[in-house]
Formats: sequence, C-alpha cells, structure tokens
Amino acid sequence: MTESVDDRYAMGRTSAETERLQLQADILARTVRIWCVWLGSRRVLGIGCRVGDTSMLLAELVGPEGSVVGVDVASARLDLARTGAVEAGLTGESFVESDLAKLRRDEPVDALFGRWFTALGPG
Ligand SMILES: C[S@@+](CC[C@H](N)C(=O)[O-])C[C@H]1O[C@@H](n2cnc3c(N)ncnc32)[C@H](O)[C@@H]1O
Repeated sequence: MTESVDDRYAMGRTSAETERLQLQADILARTVRIWCVWLGSRRVLGIGCRVGDTSMLLAELVGPEGSVVGVDVASARLDLARTGAVEAGLTGESFVESDLAKLRRDEPVDALFGRWFTALGPG
C-alpha cells in the first residue's frame, strides 16, 4: 500500500485539527498580507494551498487583474478551497489537484507562495 501525504500528517485529519489550522491561519493573515504587498506580484502559484486561506488572501492582494492558482495534492481540501472562493466572490482564483513535482503549466507566474508547505512535503 502506498503511503499518502495525509498518512504522514502527525496531527491527524479531524475536524478539531481543521479548526486549529483555521485559527492559526487567521492569526497569521496579517503577516501574509505584508509579504504579498512587498512582493507586488500579479500572477501567483500557491503551493500546498490546503483549504485555500492563503490563496484567498493572495487573490485579494493581486486584485481582479491578477490571478492565483492554488495547487494541492489533496482533492478534498481543494473542494473546500473552491467553495470558499465562490462564496467570497473571487474570480481570479483557481485550484489544481496535483503533486507539485508533477505539475505542468504553460502560463507564467511571477511568484510561488507556500506557507508550511515543507511541513508536510514529500519526505
Ligand atoms: C501544512 S499544510 C499548509 C497549508 C497552507 N499552505 C497553510 O498555510 O495553511 C501543507 C499542504 O501541502 C500539501 N502538500 C504536501 N506535499 C505536497 C505536494 N508534493 N504537492 C502538492 N501539495 C502538497 C498538503 O496536502 C497540505 O495541504
């Protein structure tokens, strides 16, 4: 049996853990905003985007002219990310299910943005 990325996540995949990660993301949102303003990027690839909280912040910062593509290997989390983007009315945001190592895209990006990606990256 192949071990998935989720199998290696030591904190588990409970709803309590999802809530903990959301609270943590809310606390760190201001720092993410500061980094993105400093970057001044317009086309961003969000690596390991999970449920899309950083992608949503990035989409607000790049504005309607920009684009944010969130990529994550876990499809269930991308469904939450897509729902969140629709609910927030963000049109420049899209999500791709892929292992980053296998991702192939033709469109250029100005920046990669990953927060805690290596915390659960491939070993
Ligand atoms: C610790 S979470 C961080 C989520 C988010 N960046 C944040 O700040 O809340 C790491 C995420 O990276 C994803 N991930 C890990 N290895 C990956 C890979 N090789 N390709 C794509 N996504 C990956 C996991 O599925 C997980 O959603």
